[in-house]
Amino acid sequence: MTDRKTLLSKITSEADRDISIPSLFDSESDRLSRFVLSEGPLRADFSKQAIDGAALDALLDLAAKCGLEEWRAKLFAGEKVNTSEDRAVLHMALRGVGGTPENQKEVAEMRRRMADYADRIRAEGKFKNIVHIGIGGSDLGPRLVADAFEASAEQSLTLRFAENVDGASVNDAIKGLDPAETLAVVVSKSFGTQETKMNGESVRDWLGDYGGSNMIAVTANRDRAVDFGIDPENIFDFWDWVGGRYSVWSAVGLSLQIAYGPDVFSDFLDGAKAMDLHFRDQPLQENLPVMMALTGIWNRNGLGYGSQAVIPYSRRLRKFSAFLQQLEMESNGKSATRDGDPSTLTCPVIWGDEGTNGQHAFFQWLHQGPSEGRYGGAPVDFVAVLKDHEDRPGHHQALLANCFAQSEALMLGKAESVVRKENADRSDIDALAPQKTFPGNRPSTTITLDELSPEALGHLIALYEHKTFVQGVIWNVNSFDQWGVELGKVLATTILDEMESGEAGSHDPSTTALMALYK
Ligand code: F6P
Repeated sequence: MTDRKTLLSKITSEADRDISIPSLFDSESDRLSRFVLSEGPLRADFSKQAIDGAALDALLDLAAKCGLEEWRAKLFAGEKVNTSEDRAVLHMALRGVGGTPENQKEVAEMRRRMADYADRIRAEGKFKNIVHIGIGGSDLGPRLVADAFEASAEQSLTLRFAENVDGASVNDAIKGLDPAETLAVVVSKSFGTQETKMNGESVRDWLGDYGGSNMIAVTANRDRAVDFGIDPENIFDFWDWVGGRYSVWSAVGLSLQIAYGPDVFSDFLDGAKAMDLHFRDQPLQENLPVMMALTGIWNRNGLGYGSQAVIPYSRRLRKFSAFLQQLEMESNGKSATRDGDPSTLTCPVIWGDEGTNGQHAFFQWLHQGPSEGRYGGAPVDFVAVLKDHEDRPGHHQALLANCFAQSEALMLGKAESVVRKENADRSDIDALAPQKTFPGNRPSTTITLDELSPEALGHLIALYEHKTFVQGVIWNVNSFDQWGVELGKVLATTILDEMESGEAGSHDPSTTALMALYK
């Protein structure tokens, strides 16, 4: 296989020409049919990307030369594609796709156990609240999904989250709750995470006499959960082939099942399964995750963009960019290839906030700000929900109008000649015109969901999961380890020990001075 640097440098050369996005709609009569792809309730419109037919052909050729189809087959077959940790990657098996019959059997058993447990807790009515304790992948997915389920499902138990080691996190989570009516769910794949253990201990203290009966755990490390003091009967397992940031589909989603019911959770899994099958079976040029990954590669390696904005025009998806920060940046924020060589440019910075709020904050920069990217600003993924779930049709129409207007404005811009005409009476027109000009030609993708159902949400999250995998294949990085989070954890343990003992060790002068501030 040709090396990635050579292959990606061809993309950089191919992108080194001016492409006018609006003109592509005139020159390419099949643009919408080629650049709009759908699966079930999800439609993605890539036609406002600065990619023409020739560029797309080059990208598809790149994907083929990087062995994408072979890697995809290995992933679904349960081969150990997480090479540095010698593990298979099978979050799709949690949705009923891929893996061995043995994997499928253990998943089915766990799904049954979770559903039975959730049904029992809901029927008994003893618990009115759930406090979900976990961080990173053990928090971001459940939190995003809980918000989104609110659009269409009824929450039967209050669901609170405690993630940060900051005492405010646990205090806010338990505030006003009665320990007798509260179920604490401690979620940690490793059961070794400092924040989660500390929050778990604090919640157990708060539970008092209920500490034994009202606390359950979800983990891939049963022994540590037992050592922590959880009754083995109250432990729900998952497996080392489920990465933390891909784990919301596993028992990590148990709090969601209890709060919203097993049927809602099952619809969510089915939605992701439909996207799994689409990704597995569709040819590359008609494949949603592949198209999304390739537009990202074009923007990063071709056009030189260092960041990617994700703006959901949905309050109930407001955690989506934070969720994607972990999914994409923890997966592909790497500088060494699988073979240990320096990589090409990999994952851009992922950022964003809900629309329309962002319009009154960073959209100024998106429209007129400079950046290292060829056309300025940053590529944007807009996410919109077509159905109004709030019984406020006027609001919803305005929300969607704003979303559609922003992608149009980013693409069309406003020419200086128009600004000059509109402001012909101004004596300072030479100074003013460039300030009121919008360069336009700024790329975006618009994803629409027919409704924010659990099924549609499953489609959306699985789309980004597979996009992340495809980009990892093309950049030749292992998307399923996260060595980069380790060093800070080790140093925090050392510093905490020294703070507790009062005996500072050897550090750089800045760190020593910071430690001295805390007595
Ligand atoms: O610090 C990063 C990380 O290791 C993530 O990958 C993971 O999702 C998170 O910590 C929490 O880990 P655990 O579920 O093992 O507590």
